[in-house]
Amino acid sequence: MKNEALFSEINLGPYTLKNRVVLPPLTRSRSTQPGNIANDLMADYYGQRAGAGFMVTEGTQIEPRGQGYAWTPGIHSQDQIEGWKKVTREVHDKGALFLRSFGM
Ligand SMILES: Cc1cc2nc3c(=O)[nH]c(=O)nc-3n(C[C@H](O)[C@H](O)[C@H](O)COP(=O)(O)O)c2cc1C
Repeated sequence: MKNEALFSEINLGPYTLKNRVVLPPLTRSRSTQPGNIANDLMADYYGQRAGAGFMVTEGTQIEPRGQGYAWTPGIHSQDQIEGWKKVTREVHDKGALFLRSFGM
């Protein structure tokens, strides 16, 4: 098959990726308001793309002053952390590796 290397495993540091498809960080601004909380819509979005071997999240502010755009999902309040756990669980259940891209 042509392009079969794309669909073969590769090691990335300590991780073995199931293929070489990568989702880059893409600002989607779909967090729940108020509070910039990761939600089910985001779990669906990332879950739909978990066929990729490696995914980078949208920029995620680690404190309120780190927010660059409206409605980006933070990871500094307890509600935000719980929201991200849902998203991460969805992706991990589907076998992709997920790296958080942080805004500061
Ligand atoms: C935090 C963050 C958010 C990004 N958001 C977007 C986005 O919303 N749309 C977009 O086209 N690229 C976005 N980018 C850039 C893409 O991730 C990607 O690097 C860009 O599309 C260039 O891809 P290429 O290197 O394959 O040409 C973002 C990058 C970062 C670091």
